[in-house]
Amino acid sequence: MEVVIRPAPELATLAADIVEAAVRADPASVLGLATGSSPLAAYNALVRRHHENGLSFAGCRAFMLDEYVGLPLDHPARYANVIREAFTARVDFRDSKIHGPDANADDLPAACAAYERLIAQSGGVDIQIVGIGADGHIGFNEPGSSLGSRTRLKTLTGQTLADNARFFGGDVSAVPRHCLTQGLATIMSARHVVLLAVGQSKAEAVHQLAEGAVSARWPASVLQHHPHVTALVDEPAASMLELAGYYRETYAAKPPWQRL
Ligand code: F6R
Repeated sequence: MEVVIRPAPELATLAADIVEAAVRADPASVLGLATGSSPLAAYNALVRRHHENGLSFAGCRAFMLDEYVGLPLDHPARYANVIREAFTARVDFRDSKIHGPDANADDLPAACAAYERLIAQSGGVDIQIVGIGADGHIGFNEPGSSLGSRTRLKTLTGQTLADNARFFGGDVSAVPRHCLTQGLATIMSARHVVLLAVGQSKAEAVHQLAEGAVSARWPASVLQHHPHVTALVDEPAASMLELAGYYRETYAAKPPWQRL
């Protein structure tokens, strides 16, 4: 795992650089998209590059990490709507090429299995953008999640409900208790995982991600087994890293030919 500690605006640029390089090299790239606040600045950077430098997503396909169960289709906090507003409708992404687990299906396990099949049929995710919860979740794989899990129903923790109440007018009781999420093994199948973490509230989770024992207690720690993870973290999120000095030295001494 490569840990890059830089100010938040630069992290967004670096994440956008990774996506842009992939899409320019292969216009049919498959992108894994997270919602939440962490990737927003990176999406804004990609929108600017679309308008100013002709970066096109017309040939790309996207898979979302997760979706709340049971929200009305037009609910503004529904992740399918959030990602459209935050990113895909602001560029030339085709709606028909943006996929999420069908969290309004009558048969949720069947919808999860269908989502896994679709990801596999599309050749798998090339670049997976992820945020991290204060409790160490990626996607909505809360503590205790199987490290071998695939897309399935999960119950959100009280902390995640409280953290996400801001997207529901501050009303914790309005946040759905259940979601469908790609599993940890699903996320691990992506070719390159780009994790963004900003702010002090992520410090313990970032420490466990990079330096803790690999454990379902801190689900993101499974990424230590992935061959290509770029963890982009700002100073407050990096504040509990024991090897922060080494990560800084490594990034400063990075050979020019070696990309993220
Ligand atoms: C969102 C998702 C979540 C968030 C995480 C961090 O699709 O899967 O894992 O990435 O909860 O949320 P923010 O970025 O809002 O701090």
